[in-house]
Amino acid sequence: YASDRIRNFSIIAHVDHGKSTLADRLLELTGTIRKGHGQPQYLDKLQVERERGITVKAQTATMFHKHNFLGTDTEFLLNLVDTPGHVDFSYEVSRSLAACQGALLVVDAAQGVQAQTVANFYLAFESNLTIIPVINKIDQPTADPDRIKAQLKSMFDLDPSEALLTSAKTGQGLEQVLPSVIERIPPPPGKSNSPLRMLLLDAYYDEYKGVICHVAVVDGALRKGEKISSAGTGQSYEVLDVGIMHPELTPTGVLLTGQVGYIVSGMRSTKEARVGDTLYHTRSTVEPLPGFKPAKHMVFSGLYPADGSDFEALNHAIERLTCNDASVSVTKESSSALGMGFRCGFLGLLHMDVFHQRLEQEYGAHVISTVPTVPYIFEYADGSKKHIHNPATLPSNPKQRVTACWEPTVLATIIIPSEYVGSVITLCSERRGEQLEYSFIDSQRAFMKYRLPLREIVVDFYNELKSITSGYASFDYEDADYQASDLVKLDILLNGQPVDAMATIVHRLKAQRVGRELVEKLKKFIDRQMFEITIQAAIGSKVIARETVSAMRKNVLAKCYGGDVTRKRKLLEKQKEGKKRMKRVGSVDIPQEAFNELLKVS
Ligand code: GTP
Repeated sequence: YASDRIRNFSIIAHVDHGKSTLADRLLELTGTIRKGHGQPQYLDKLQVERERGITVKAQTATMFHKHNFLGTDTEFLLNLVDTPGHVDFSYEVSRSLAACQGALLVVDAAQGVQAQTVANFYLAFESNLTIIPVINKIDQPTADPDRIKAQLKSMFDLDPSEALLTSAKTGQGLEQVLPSVIERIPPPPGKSNSPLRMLLLDAYYDEYKGVICHVAVVDGALRKGEKISSAGTGQSYEVLDVGIMHPELTPTGVLLTGQVGYIVSGMRSTKEARVGDTLYHTRSTVEPLPGFKPAKHMVFSGLYPADGSDFEALNHAIERLTCNDASVSVTKESSSALGMGFRCGFLGLLHMDVFHQRLEQEYGAHVISTVPTVPYIFEYADGSKKHIHNPATLPSNPKQRVTACWEPTVLATIIIPSEYVGSVITLCSERRGEQLEYSFIDSQRAFMKYRLPLREIVVDFYNELKSITSGYASFDYEDADYQASDLVKLDILLNGQPVDAMATIVHRLKAQRVGRELVEKLKKFIDRQMFEITIQAAIGSKVIARETVSAMRKNVLAKCYGGDVTRKRKLLEKQKEGKKRMKRVGSVDIPQEAFNELLKVS
């Protein structure tokens, strides 16, 4: 395939506007997957993705399509690069777009432009992609394509006459999609007679084949058996297998200029496969391609085995999982309350949730996660600065005075029906937000931009926003600068002992309320034990909230009159079982749910 017969494109959309369904229809239309066979939503592979209806990892598929081009029937090779549909993964979106020359911007014909439509539009626009607007779900009774066309014009200056009207459900209008891709999106611009340059798009570990890299051949060509080197690591490899995703791995022996495909090259771990790296023929000299901005970890949390003896199992599970998700950072840490564990950095809260869920579902690991924290910076009287990813590492009574602290902020885009403007403004100001922009998309929808401290949106912001707007708000954010803030460390003490894994960092003005809520939550979840338990929240040595769980003796043997020893033992063992999901901190048993509940206090 000469590159003028190749098109590389992706589909971008707000969550639920029909991106995956449309992708499936295109794969069916081209015979890449059989109609009605296989898994619905081919591109959403992971179990969590299907459960939550979100795409987490970008998948790519190649399809072939005959099209009458300049008077002759010509077969085109079309690479569809899938993009994740959630705010946490905008890094993966820009990564996928790097291999494309165009994008289908899918907008729901009833809901119209939403926050992620805006965010994704700008990512594609800044990558200089040709954008084809697709107004989808026109079969819905509430569909109003003309209103959406007007929105596309006023928000993005897109020509309404260029919008395609489709229903990925009934199939209406789908026949125009691929011809538009072929006619409007330019072919990949690389040079076939230049030395090979490949962009490493993604990598994952396959049990049988080892590390599989997704690549885009920018210049030149790659053949099986050739030697390649990485510009990033300097390592060299032999190409053992090369091919396309059609949609399963299909060996072709060669990848030509402009093609997107996979290679297997004997890499031992995905750590060697740096996303954004340039691969080239060993012994040739090439200018590396512009890489990607590295993923920024916005949320950190400690992960500990729920049962102390499972540390090795958790270690193994985390290693396996990070093999396929290099965007999670992992360092070992230890907590006096929870023992040995890991500090993990995530792209956002959903990313953290998904990781957590995959650990449990795919690896059967039981984990306790500590309150998520964002990365803070503290400055001390001697001028030294410290980056804090774990509140426990911030001394409660520092030897030196803290002279300044900074917290990360985000620029948030919120789109809502106009009647909810008042309550959203209230929510954002409670969350210490600063309004930057307030306008209207059309007569029914308002558009707002806020600067918000990241900490304030990490915990439950999106749920709250959804609930005060009856589910109508859409929300997206990008990371912004650090801002000076007045932060304090909030300790939780059980019977006078601080529990390091429960410490949090909060704004001084919120400390009282958060402290109160935390001790109340904990009181509900800590069962009565054989002694009285005091639960306190404190800033330094000052206690700001306190609750008590009174003592009780739970006599499980009370029912066992008579002297049946085996029965007694059984009961005692049952009680021990019940304790498995507990953590003993000092002398207090804390159930796993108590830790989970702490995550919900903002
Ligand atoms: P993410 O994977 O989370 O990014 O969502 P998505 O944009 O891929 O949306 P998806 O394809 O999963 O579709 C969301 C829902 O809309 C599903 O229940 C689809 O069945 C439905 N849907 C998709 N296209 C159409 C359409 O043209 N008409 C109607 N009525 N429903 C559609």
